[in-house]
Amino acid sequence: MESSTTNEERPRVAVLGTGIMGAPMARTIAASGMPVRVWNRTRSTAAPLAGDGITVADTPEEAVAGAEVIVTMLSDGNVVERVMSGIGGPPAGAVWTQMSTVGIAATERLAALAGNLGLVFVDAPVLGTRGPAENGALTVLAAGPADARDRAAPVFDAVGARTVWFDDVGAATRLKLVANSWVLALTSATGEALALARGLGLDPRQFLDLVSGGPLDSAYLHIKAEAILEQDYTPSFSLANAAKDARLLLEAADAAEVRMDLAAATAERLERAAGDGHGGKDMAAGYFASFRRS
Ligand SMILES: NC(=O)c1ccc[n+]([C@@H]2O[C@H](COP(=O)([O-])OP(=O)(O)OC[C@H]3O[C@@H](n4cnc5c(N)ncnc54)[C@H](OP(=O)(O)O)[C@@H]3O)[C@@H](O)[C@H]2O)c1
Repeated sequence: MESSTTNEERPRVAVLGTGIMGAPMARTIAASGMPVRVWNRTRSTAAPLAGDGITVADTPEEAVAGAEVIVTMLSDGNVVERVMSGIGGPPAGAVWTQMSTVGIAATERLAALAGNLGLVFVDAPVLGTRGPAENGALTVLAAGPADARDRAAPVFDAVGARTVWFDDVGAATRLKLVANSWVLALTSATGEALALARGLGLDPRQFLDLVSGGPLDSAYLHIKAEAILEQDYTPSFSLANAAKDARLLLEAADAAEVRMDLAAATAERLERAAGDGHGGKDMAAGYFASFRRS
């Protein structure tokens, strides 16, 4: 179900985690007129946000004090759990929009934690990467109680171009995992096709030209292929987080008794590339897994 709210309210918002995604999301929320307080483990990463009218807090507890909506945008479920467990007594009844990608098991644990903390939990992973986050053009997959929708909507409308609502907590994360299986397969296929072209003595651009504009083409192929060809691995989505997502979707598939051979191969490629020191680069650097170590 689609939502295009016109809610004029401006809730006080706390954003925990100002990495590749959290920082631009905090900026777009603030730019929409909502008061924003952020916290990040490494304070220096969050510090530039102060120039955009955002308050940088020293602790998660300080960031969430008085917040009506709490956004978590941290690396994984364990980190989210640790940070949220440490916030003491958060504002009773505040909405917690959990927007990191944490998988099914952690989403269930975090929903239970929200209940213990007296927070209203919204499972709200996002599609889109650094660029869409900077432009407030993410797609938000949101699942939570009906009474949380209006309260979370101003934040979702600020960070996203589209919000897709589901009734059951967990449904959003399940669809996010399905979408990620597609993204990871495309990225691996791109890396392997370019590596094979190189290995066979071809210019990889011949392959790109061949498929360009036809039914085999994909915008994503060109984005990741350019990163590889230009050797620009500035992370939009880090290889380490992609490896984490590959593990999450394999766990989900295993529990659902679905065999995911491509995802398993992608997980192995990403782990191998991370082991070779590429974990902080963009996931396009999975390309390096195609070559023998020197
Ligand atoms: N980038 C994308 O394209 C994209 C798209 C959709 C969803 N996501 C998901 O969104 C989440 C954030 O992604 P991102 O790209 O913003 O990742 P990121 O740049 O790696 O940022 C990770 C954040 O988690 C924090 N963190 C890591 N370990 C921590 C710990 N032990 N204790 C406290 N904080 C810790 C980092 O703090 P420090 O700065 O101190 O390290 C940083 O704030 C991930 O779940 C990712 O899978 C990413």
